[in-house]
Order: sequence, then structure tokens, then C-alpha cells
Amino acid sequence: MGKSCLPKCRLGRILSWLQILLGGLVMIVSIANLFKLYSSGFFLHNEVVCRPYYGAKDLYEGFDLRALNDRVGEVLNRMDSLQEKLERTVQEMEKNKDGLVKTNITRLEHKKFLEEEVIRPLYNAHIALRQIRLPMAEGIRNSTMKEEPLINTFIREEIRKYITPKENRLGKINIYGKERVYNTIGHACVLMKKELEEYMDYDIGSYCKDDWNLAQKLMVNGCDPLPRRRCLTRASKVYQKPYPINESLWKIPDDRNVRWGNYQCRNFTCLSSKNPKRGFSKCINCFEMELEKLKWVTNTSNSSLPVDFWISDVLAIKPGEIRIGLDFGIGTGSFAARMREKNVTIISTALNLGAPFNEMIALRGLVPLYVTLNQRLPFFDNTMDIIHTSGFMDGWIDLQLLDFILYDWDRILRPGGLLWIDRFFCDRKDLDDFMYMFLQFRYKKHKWVIAPKSKDEVYFSALLEKPQRAI
Ligand SMILES: *[C@@H]1O[C@H](CO)[C@@H](O)[C@H](O)[C@H]1NC(C)=O
Ligand SMILES: *[C@@H]1O[C@H](CO)[C@@H](O)[C@H](O)[C@H]1NC(C)=O
Ligand SMILES: *[C@@H]1O[C@H](CO)[C@@H](O)[C@H](O)[C@H]1NC(C)=O
Ligand SMILES: *[C@@H]1O[C@H](CO)[C@@H](O)[C@H](O)[C@H]1NC(C)=O
Ligand SMILES: *[C@@H]1O[C@H](CO)[C@@H](O)[C@H](O)[C@H]1NC(C)=O
Ligand SMILES: *[C@@H]1O[C@H](CO)[C@@H](O)[C@H](O)[C@H]1NC(C)=O
Ligand SMILES: *[C@@H]1O[C@H](CO)[C@@H](O)[C@H](O)[C@H]1NC(C)=O
Repeated sequence: MGKSCLPKCRLGRILSWLQILLGGLVMIVSIANLFKLYSSGFFLHNEVVCRPYYGAKDLYEGFDLRALNDRVGEVLNRMDSLQEKLERTVQEMEKNKDGLVKTNITRLEHKKFLEEEVIRPLYNAHIALRQIRLPMAEGIRNSTMKEEPLINTFIREEIRKYITPKENRLGKINIYGKERVYNTIGHACVLMKKELEEYMDYDIGSYCKDDWNLAQKLMVNGCDPLPRRRCLTRASKVYQKPYPINESLWKIPDDRNVRWGNYQCRNFTCLSSKNPKRGFSKCINCFEMELEKLKWVTNTSNSSLPVDFWISDVLAIKPGEIRIGLDFGIGTGSFAARMREKNVTIISTALNLGAPFNEMIALRGLVPLYVTLNQRLPFFDNTMDIIHTSGFMDGWIDLQLLDFILYDWDRILRPGGLLWIDRFFCDRKDLDDFMYMFLQFRYKKHKWVIAPKSKDEVYFSALLEKPQRAI
């Protein structure tokens, strides 16, 4: 039995080895093909294949670049003269406007049509063609690298152009003492490639999409700072001039001055805390001026919690010394408005989380700073007289994150500056951890109050002064 099996078994074994070998070969061949495809840009957007970033030399070898250049020049000339002609016609129509209105309204429409449907796209195409002539990124001085490594992460041309370092003209050194300018985007952008490509998908020189919320999504997810864009931002068509400053501080702005398209509400009345469908959950009373007027100047409720300090008491600690500061939190600028009345300039951070917080602050005549928690604050060391914070970093915040943020605040606060923590709240059991965070800087305690919020939660307010430090 054993003997008769031998040849059969051997044959079987050989066959199975052959199978494995063949399988291996197939795999190697397909991987090789994959590499080939990949390196020739097959997996990328079709247009990209011909882009010079993938080795201009290889692709353009044997290609008459001069002829191409001449051709482009010719097209540009033709388009120039066409645009001139069209614009002349429109100008003539503009002159005879009155006649137009009387004789036939459709000619007016015709003019509008020409302007919007003919000249604008033509202009865009024109610009696009001219872009071909822009010098390509030649690489980074005396390195052989042709471009920044990050560039190949993105497909959309506009991002690639944006992050290519821009050499100064004539080899000059710029005000930063550099030979080139690096436009940056946050590295987390790589994680949100799809959204960023969508954000950078626009026609140069035309209107942007109404997509501030996409931009904000990118920002809060760490893709920040965002690239600048070469499209025109949209604004309300019926924008009214803002109220004068003696009225604007405590007045709900005109509904027409906000683009409401990306909010649940369509007017300021709708943002009231009484409306369950207002579209936001933080700072729910912020759009009710009667309630906002009570903050920091009166005891707001009958419970009279001692965690609410008055602005007059705080400023009395350093009479005349508090002039500029930052309000870090979520709100509509009421703190800055009150401080303005005391001749203190406050910049209020704001994100448009479900409601037009930035617009509201600006329409009140105050300065909104559109930043997230993710970024180092754009102020220099030891510059601010006061930092006030409320309603933003309560209980949820990771201790290490809080640590980085507090060190950044410490950095911008001047010696003798005040840190006002206003109604921070957290679980009672976490209180010690948070207190340590605030205490570690050894600030002088002017006020330090803890009050119960509910059975398990506590409020915590403090007024601390940054000390002088040796060195
Ligand atoms: C404009 O002219 C067209 C044809 O010439 C005519 O049908 C139309 O009624 C005119 N419209 C007005 C508002 O006069
Ligand atoms: C790059 O060029 C500068 C002078 O332009 C030179 O000092 C430097 O050593 C060069 N760096 C490299 C890596 O060659
Ligand atoms: C605000 O100031 C303007 C002039 O600057 C004045 O006409 C107007 O009456 C003032 N409004 C209020 C509410 O004081
Ligand atoms: C405000 O918007 C709500 C719906 O969003 C609407 O019901 C209400 O009539 C609006 N109020 C005013 C004054 O336009
Ligand atoms: C405060 O107390 C007064 C009477 O003492 C009462 O009328 C009012 O409703 C109370 N307000 C709040 C917010 O509890
Ligand atoms: C406000 O409340 C505090 C206690 O929290 C109290 O000492 C103070 O007298 C109150 N002020 C007024 C004007 O009621
Ligand atoms: C603010 O400054 C103005 C002009 O300098 C002055 O008239 C006013 O009294 C100041 N207000 C306060 C609260 O210091």
C-alpha cells in the first residue's frame, strides 16, 4: 500500500508546490503592476497624471514646450480682445440705460446676462489660462527635493499651490529674514483630506460657496490654520449699516446683517432660550439682552451665589491698571461690552456653534476672535492685563489639555495681570484635580469661591494674579 502511494503522493506534493509557486508568481506580478500603475499616477485624479509635480522631466520629454507656450499665448490674446469687445458693449449699454428701461426691459436682462453669464466665466477662464504661465515650484534652494513632502498628500491643485513655498522676488530677503514664505495648514488636515479638498474646490476669483461651517468643522478638528482662498466670500445681500456704538452695545442687531443659511434659526428672535429649536445648547441666554445686562453688575438670581464676582470689584483691585484683555469662552460679547464701558478693551473668542456668535459680537461693536482651543493664542508673551474665562472648559476637559491651555494663558498674561475664572463647574469628585491645575502656577489669590451647583456638581470661581517671576 505504502509503495503504490509513493508516486501519487509525490505527484500531489509537486503539484501543490507548483500551485504555491504559481500563486506567489501571480502575486509578485500583480504587485509589480500595481506599483507601475501607482507610480504613473493611475490612482490619482485623471488630470493629475500630466501635472509636472510627478516628475515634469519624464512626462514632458520629447514634448514641444515652446509650441505649447506659443499656443497658450495665442489663446490669451484672442481672449483679451474678446473680453475688451464685450466690455465695450456693456459700457455703451450702461450709458443708454434710461433708453433701455423705456424701450424694452429684456435688453436690461440681456446686459445682466452678458455681465454674469459671459464676461465672468470668460474672465475666470482667462485667469485660469494665465495660471499655466506661473512659474512652477522649482524646489527648495540647495536641496534636490522638488517640493514640500506634504504636497503629494493632496490632489487639488489649489492646495498644492498654496503650500508650495513662495520664493521672494529677485532673491530678496523678506521682513522675516527669509528667502521664501511658507503658507501653512495644520497637519491634522491630512486626516480630513476629503473635507479640505472640498473646501479648496472653487473657481478662482468667483464667489465661494456658503461654506463657513465646513471651514469651522475643519478648524475644530485641528485643521487649523486653514489655507487662505482666492474666492469672494458671500455676504448678506441686504446688509444694513450697523447701529452707532452708543446704541449697538446692548441692542440685538438687525436680522438682515447675518447670513442665516447654515443655522437652524433665521432671525435673532428665534435664538431665544425659550425656543427649544434654537439650534445651540451652550450659552442659551446669550441672545437675551435683558438677562445679559444683569451679568457682573448685579446679583442675577435670588439664590445670590457668591461665585459671581462684580466687574467693579475686580477692577478695584488694580485701579486703572487693567486696560486690555481676553475673554475666553462662549458668548455674545457682553463681558467685553461691560468692560468697554469701563474703558477696558476686551477681545472675545467666539465660534459659531449653532448660532452667529461672531457676527453678533462684531455687530455690537466689539472684537470677536475666531479661534478654537486647538491653537496657541495669537498674542505675544506678557502682554494681557486680564484673561476672563467662562462657560467653555467646564468638567469635560482633559487635564493635560487644560494644562497646555493654562500655560499658554500664563504666557500671554503680564506679571501682575489677572486671571478670572468665572463659574467653572465640574463633578465634585474631580474638583481637587482641577484646583491643582489652577494652583500650580502659584498665583496670588484675590478671590477663591466654591459653591454647590447640584448634588454632584460644584461651581468654582477665582480671581488670581500672575506674580513677578525671577529671570
Ligand atoms: C420687448 O421686445 C419684444 C420683441 O421685440 C416684445 O415681444 C416684448 O413685449 C417687449 N417687452 C417690453 C416690456 O416692451
Ligand atoms: C545651502 O546654501 C548655503 C548658501 O547659500 C550654504 O551655506 C549651505 O551650506 C547649503 N546647504 C547645503 C545642505 O548644501
Ligand atoms: C448716539 O449718538 C448719535 C450721534 O453720535 C445721536 O444722534 C444719537 O441720539 C445717540 N443715541 C443714543 C441712544 O444716545
Ligand atoms: C423668526 O424665525 C421664526 C422661524 O425661524 C419665525 O417663525 C418667526 O416668524 C421669525 N420672526 C420674525 C420677526 O421674523
Ligand atoms: C426672586 O424673588 C422675587 C421675590 O422675592 C420673586 O418675585 C422672583 O420671581 C424671584 N426670582 C427668581 C429668578 O427666582
Ligand atoms: C449679592 O449677593 C451677595 C451674596 O452672594 C450679597 O452679599 C450682596 O449683598 C448682594 N448684593 C445685592 C445688591 O443684593
Ligand atoms: C472712559 O473714558 C472717557 C474718556 O476718556 C471718560 O470720560 C470716562 O469717564 C471713562 N470711563 C470710566 C468708567 O473710566
